[in-house]
Amino acid sequence: MWDFPFYPEAASTIAPRVDAIYWTLVALSAVFSLGVAILIVFFAIRYREGMDVNRTKLLTENMPLELSWVFIPLGLALGVFAWSAVVFADINRPPADTLNIYVIGKQWMWQVQHPSGALEINHLHVPINQPVKLIMTSQDVIHDFYIPAFRIKHDVLPGRYTTLWFEATQTGQFHLFCAEYCGTDHSRMVGSVIVMEQLDYETWLSGDSGLSMEAAGQQIFERRGCSSCHSGDPDARGPALAGVFGQTVALEDGRTVVADEAYILESIVQPNAKIVAGYPAIMPTYEGIISDEGLFQLVAYIKSLSDETNQQSSN
Ligand code: CUA
Repeated sequence: MWDFPFYPEAASTIAPRVDAIYWTLVALSAVFSLGVAILIVFFAIRYREGMDVNRTKLLTENMPLELSWVFIPLGLALGVFAWSAVVFADINRPPADTLNIYVIGKQWMWQVQHPSGALEINHLHVPINQPVKLIMTSQDVIHDFYIPAFRIKHDVLPGRYTTLWFEATQTGQFHLFCAEYCGTDHSRMVGSVIVMEQLDYETWLSGDSGLSMEAAGQQIFERRGCSSCHSGDPDARGPALAGVFGQTVALEDGRTVVADEAYILESIVQPNAKIVAGYPAIMPTYEGIISDEGLFQLVAYIKSLSDETNQQSSN
């Protein structure tokens, strides 16, 4: 009868876990605040001026009491910390097998591209019960991708690539917000996440007959002459790209890095940030030359090179 939502629906695998921490913190705060408040009122009444009470037994020391007020709150606080740390790590560590969707924030809209090439603005269609990873960047200022019903939120930064993952557990339509003030129309930078059954999602995707992200990326790769250096030959000027995705790469300065989307994107726009061991730093930057959409398509293509080699080696 009274439909006033105190907090959003819990529609992802992580949402109930975040809520459990939230309500535990509310309960702990309530217990301690009420305990203190009730004792203040009780003592204020009982020991007020003129009350006939014994004031001689002044307590100056009580070791068990002092130890308990040190160690009980300490245990509670550390317990909440450890619990939150586990959930925080899971929010930030996507599973290996995700559906990857690319998101670009710009004043003032969200542009989304699916691997099949399907594009959408201010809408994000995803299948239920499937881990989805968003790879995000901004074309102008800092935005923040926020889906309250999934309890996830992450900054979207110009010149950097951030990721966010979730697994939806309910079909339906949920709010999508920009949660970082980004200029005049920030408050209107909103949209919807539409969670669909797996089959409905596939039907929805097939309604769009554009070029897949992989194919579009391959076109850019060829047009820009990337293969003249990244030819895959042993004496090529640049490292081979087939089979690289997901592998650990040794760098010239002795560090290692896992070749994920963010690393590949960084290597295209800032080639000198991480030089692969054994190769000269000769690659020019493509920052501002290839659009953000194009960069995401290139990554989808470079990633697909590794899928094929994996298939070939396992056959
Ligand atoms: Cu984009 Cu606020």
